[in-house]
Order: sequence, then C-alpha cells, then structure tokens
Amino acid sequence: WCSDSGASYFLKLLSVPGFGLQIQCYQCEEFQLNNDCSSPEFIVNCTVNVQDMCQKEVMEKSFGIMYRKSCASSAACLIASAGYQSFCSPGKVNSVCISCCNTPLCNGPRPKKRGNSGVKLRAHMITTVLLLKLSLLFFYH
Ligand SMILES: *[C@@H]1O[C@H](CO)[C@@H](O)[C@H](O)[C@H]1NC(C)=O
Repeated sequence: WCSDSGASYFLKLLSVPGFGLQIQCYQCEEFQLNNDCSSPEFIVNCTVNVQDMCQKEVMEKSFGIMYRKSCASSAACLIASAGYQSFCSPGKVNSVCISCCNTPLCNGPRPKKRGNSGVKLRAHMITTVLLLKLSLLFFYH
C-alpha cells in the first residue's frame, strides 16, 4: 500500500487550495509602443491550470520598440517562441523575440543587474591578504 498512499498524498497536495497553478503576468494584448507594460495596472490573473506561463513579445522597429505581453499556456508560448527564434536578433530593426517564463510577473521589467561587487570585493580581499602574508614572509626572513 506504500505506493498507493504516495499517490493519494500527491492527490491531496493537488487539491489543497492555492496549489492549483495560478500565476500573474503583465498583460497588454495590443502592441504598446515604447511602453513595456510593466506597471501594476497591466497585472492580470492567469487562468488556473491552463495559462501556466507569461509570454513577452518584443518587436524592434525603426520608430521604437513594441511590446505585447500576456498569460499563455506553456505549449502555446513555447511553440510561438520557437517559431520566432529565427526572427529574434535583439538590437536589430525588425527583430521579433518571444520569450516565455513561468514565475509570477516574470514578463515584467528586466531584473536589475545586481553587480557582483560582493564577489569581487572578497576576491580582492583574499588577494590582499595573500600579498600581505607574502610580504610578511619576505620581511621576517
Ligand atoms: C487576482 O486574484 C486575486 C486573488 O485571487 C485578487 O485579489 C485580485 O484582485 C485579482 N487581480 C485581478 C487583476 O483580477
């Protein structure tokens, strides 16, 4: 009965309220010019268990960048994304890129690049300590 209880445990997990897959995405179904619709008024609730991804479409034109965003089923989004892969060349006019992601609001603004200054600082400190030790060795010999 071991595997059976495993299965029923899994079913219980699925029926726990809130476990049903619902994510929120930014949504602007009409193309927006130079507005990546990443402000709160564009947030929508996606259809539970159906729309499990956020989709983002970025089209670069000579007059600006156009954005379209929505909730999507993973199948639809991944197919669209794959289909547009050959048209996607960021930074070039007429590039069209479709991307999919599956965490809440993941089609929003690009996450701010967090500098790796912490890592650099530590590496720098280690180097400094090593140099200090080396110089001490030299001095006390
Ligand atoms: C999304 O759902 C939450 C809770 O289920 C609700 O509070 C919120 O108002 C909904 N947002 C929209 C934009 O429908």
